[in-house]
Amino acid sequence: MTELNLKNIKKSYGDFDVLKDINRSIPHGTFFTLLGPSGCGKTTLLRVVAGFVSPSSGAVHFGQQDVTHTAPHLREIGMVFQDYALFPDKSVFDNVAYGLRARKKSERDIRNKVPEYLEKVGLEGFGHRLPAEMSGGQRQRVALARALIVEPRVLLMDEPLSNLDASLRVQMRDVIRSLQLETNTTTIFVTHDQEEALAMSDQIAVMKDGRIDQCGAPDDVYRNPQTAYVSSFVGSANLLPARYLGQEENGIDTYEVNGTRVSGRTMSKADDGRYLMVARPENLGIRKFSGPAGAGELNGHIQTLQFQGYRTSFHVVLENGADVYVETFGETTGHATARGDEVTISFNEKCLFVPEASR
Ligand SMILES: Nc1ncnc2c1ncn2[C@@H]1O[C@H](COP(=O)(O)OP(=O)(O)OP(=O)(O)O)[C@@H](O)[C@H]1O
Ligand SMILES: [Mg+2]
Repeated sequence: MTELNLKNIKKSYGDFDVLKDINRSIPHGTFFTLLGPSGCGKTTLLRVVAGFVSPSSGAVHFGQQDVTHTAPHLREIGMVFQDYALFPDKSVFDNVAYGLRARKKSERDIRNKVPEYLEKVGLEGFGHRLPAEMSGGQRQRVALARALIVEPRVLLMDEPLSNLDASLRVQMRDVIRSLQLETNTTTIFVTHDQEEALAMSDQIAVMKDGRIDQCGAPDDVYRNPQTAYVSSFVGSANLLPARYLGQEENGIDTYEVNGTRVSGRTMSKADDGRYLMVARPENLGIRKFSGPAGAGELNGHIQTLQFQGYRTSFHVVLENGADVYVETFGETTGHATARGDEVTISFNEKCLFVPEASR
């Protein structure tokens, strides 16, 4: 059982703080994703867990064991990289066998185990090939088999899918997640692709400038973003300036947004009283203009629309010039359907409010 504990991890290069006090306890068997834009510190944190980078302060524990000062090859980790990092002159079989040979396993064990792991990743019969004779997706499967065959305590993956084409990327999500579940390996997965993070993870840590801005299950991070940053990095969000008006009798917070009253949940308090309304495109209503907008509604016109079969997305420009994106699903009967149409947008109670300063 390997619970992974990151305790007050800081890392600085000169006076640049790359990691600022990362604290997290990751239960055994969790698929834990670090999600964030380029330069936010994902790879650095992964390398701290692997042991290739020493933290400036703080500790890494695998279960009861403090591994902060343990060399990488003694941490019993498996790693998969964006560029596969296979040995080009070794066969697929020898690549996968590498970790077992390094651990002085018998050739008999190796002959049994390598085909078992090649089969797990759907590459039975490919053992004799060289990496150069494999496609990108196949190479990444070899890398995955090589990492998992040693039954690592922790599996670390740094953007393993980003060199693959779009459809293969989606297919490989399933391969990786199924194997992770089958082996119940505690895993840290790095990506800047929010869809990948939502689709694969048990937990997502959304990183910003060396910190974890929010951490939670995919549906929680998506439905309950605590900051404007998380709301727009995970999924798409319309962000409109809002002014707090007060509470209704039922305790629900009410705001003024572009001159209309909208009620919803306040995710965290703004010290300066300045808020943004977070409205997911699928949480907005759209209908043909039929008179002055009521409470929780705003008028505008359709700038562009894209029909995409099961859904239609609209770019609407409101009367005050603000842009809003709306998505509807299924039949579009009753909706406005043409460029230039005058429309009324309605904000429902699923709209959230976050501090403006949390962008
Ligand atoms: N050895 C180093 N010396 C100085 N600065 C470094 C070093 N390694 C990383 N950095 C800086 O730390 C920051 C975080 O880098 P890191 O590689 O962890 O980002 P990342 O989130 O993995 O980004 P990407 O998505 O582009 O891979 C960057 O600004 C980077 O320039
Ligand atoms: Mg990186």
